[in-house]
Amino acid sequence: MKLIKINLIITFSLLFANNTIIMPDISNNNLQHSTTNVLEIDYMSQIQPILYQNCTSCHGASGGLNLNSYNNLMNGGNSGDVVIPSNPSSSIFWQRINNGSMPPGNNPDLSSNQINMIAQWIDEGALYEPFESIDYESQVQSIFNQFCTSCHGGSGGLNLSSYNSAMNGGNSGDVITPSNNLTSILWQRINNGSMPPGNNPELSETQKNLIAQWINEGALAEPFTCGINGDYNFDGFINVTDIIASVNIIIGVYEYSECMDLNGDETVNILDILNMVNHILNN
Ligand code: HEC
Ligand code: HEC
Repeated sequence: MKLIKINLIITFSLLFANNTIIMPDISNNNLQHSTTNVLEIDYMSQIQPILYQNCTSCHGASGGLNLNSYNNLMNGGNSGDVVIPSNPSSSIFWQRINNGSMPPGNNPDLSSNQINMIAQWIDEGALYEPFESIDYESQVQSIFNQFCTSCHGGSGGLNLSSYNSAMNGGNSGDVITPSNNLTSILWQRINNGSMPPGNNPELSETQKNLIAQWINEGALAEPFTCGINGDYNFDGFINVTDIIASVNIIIGVYEYSECMDLNGDETVNILDILNMVNHILNN
């Protein structure tokens, strides 16, 4: 009898406003980073909402694994650590939602979008806030425009006039290795002073550090954005479950999420709910 191994590859992308979030391909235990425009996951606004809605009724404060906050999750449960940063497939937390054993019994499983988002969050290092965030366009591109594009402006070889062309690399191939400034040729060449060459002024230490930080944050085109403000559970639209989430934030059951602060006044209140109601009525 033939043993046929079926590799189920789930690839999907979510469209949020102008940004495309590309999730990692998940092929059994094998997680890979996508090379294009990976946005980083924010714990408070993307992971904690899933836990509030599906887990904390049991994993509250009554002993064992507590999923009420980032610190409690990272403290683990009876088996010790349940999240192994950068390694979703060996994280009990991910295993248990991926094999459907959590939530248990008749409680609905998480959607594949949610499971993949959690995998991506762990894969990115399971950070609370991944983004100090350097913004490519206003902070990195402006350095390239000032110091580099006079030579690297499109006449063959490395072109530093845009994000996409910079990420395409030069004659040596990729010159930027996301998350690793030390192995990025671009950073090596500015750090050892060989670029810009000759009498051209060198970058300041602050500018070099800024580029290193941008690379180490994943060399993203854009820092994290909420996508659709008001879409608490990231299911792609605003509806009554999102309004219930806002009410929970207002009464202090859920923590503040910047993505639910629609008018940007740094609190979630009735004005934000009215905003969401209008959005629902207009759609
Ligand atoms: C209906 C109650 C209930 C819900 C809802 C629930 N769990 Fe559990 N969970 C349990 C119980 C009971 C255990 C301990 C028994 C076991 O390991 O199966 C457990 C164990 C676990 C463990 C193993 C902890 C350890 O230290 O070994 C993880 C991880 C976990 N749950 C994650 C989750 C996640 C994530 C959610 C939400 C997506 C969730 N659970 C929802 C009841 C629940
Ligand atoms: C005066 C022109 C000039 C300026 C300004 C300049 N470069 Fe270069 N750069 C070159 C030339 C010529 C080469 C190819 C020869 C070499 O590798 O040294 C090169 C090569 C490179 C390479 C290696 C490309 C590869 O594929 O191996 C990198 C990376 C690089 N430059 C980055 C920069 C950065 C970043 C800046 C701005 C901070 C910059 N350069 C400014 C002329 C310049």
